[in-house]
Amino acid sequence: MQIAIIGTGRMARNLGAGWARAGLSIVFGSRNPQAHADLAESAPGAQVTEPTAALDGADVVVIAIPFPAVEPFAREHADKLRGKVVVDISNPFNHLPDNSVAGAEITARAIGPGARVVAAFKSNFWETLLEPTDPRYDIERDVHYAGDDVEAKKLVGRLIYDLGFRAIDCGPLKNARVLDGMAPLIIELDKRYANGERRSSWRLLSVPHVD
Ligand SMILES: NC(=O)c1ccc[n+]([C@@H]2O[C@H](COP(=O)([O-])OP(=O)(O)OC[C@H]3O[C@@H](n4cnc5c(N)ncnc54)[C@H](OP(=O)(O)O)[C@@H]3O)[C@@H](O)[C@H]2O)c1
Repeated sequence: MQIAIIGTGRMARNLGAGWARAGLSIVFGSRNPQAHADLAESAPGAQVTEPTAALDGADVVVIAIPFPAVEPFAREHADKLRGKVVVDISNPFNHLPDNSVAGAEITARAIGPGARVVAAFKSNFWETLLEPTDPRYDIERDVHYAGDDVEAKKLVGRLIYDLGFRAIDCGPLKNARVLDGMAPLIIELDKRYANGERRSSWRLLSVPHVD
């Protein structure tokens, strides 16, 4: 299975590194691939190419670019994204202040009928993506995900486990409206209780084990 990760920033790098270490095939899509050849060091075996080329042959596409760029990207590449499992990790913050629609719903609409969008990783910091078990408490961190396509969600759940996290299925894509609010809240909580250190995670205590 090939995973295309669009973007070469903090989230892209750490997701790519984690999946490459788990033995998955990674291709990064960058607007400037030559500048990011070093990604192959953190994600062994990974290729770096233009975004359009990265989409060719990908089974899963993780869009790891800033929220305002996601909808235009999805619209521009709708033909290639349709039918593929698309993981939207973007946090809208003040771009969608009233949470009446999820960023991932906008992405799905931009792709159109046949979109298989799963919202995931929104409430996890890039700083902890390679630390799925919090060493301070020896507790696995949770990754929340939501989507309407059952098979797409199963695949994303497995990819979350491949990184070492617990995968928490949060239901249909519309529930990503809540997930969009979790990042701003955990940032606020970290400021209040952890001097702004970004190492917190959400943990669902009533689920000792999730398959
Ligand atoms: N930072 C976090 O802890 C965190 C946590 C959860 C979710 N997220 C979400 O994950 C996404 C990426 O966050 P990040 O922190 O990794 O960001 P980042 O470090 O700023 O990286 C973003 C990457 O996106 C690409 N990019 C930038 N502007 C773009 C544009 N206008 N159009 C297309 N591509 C563009 C760039 O790659 P190229 O220059 O190579 O194209 C850049 O390296 C965001 O949507 C964010 O909300 C972040």
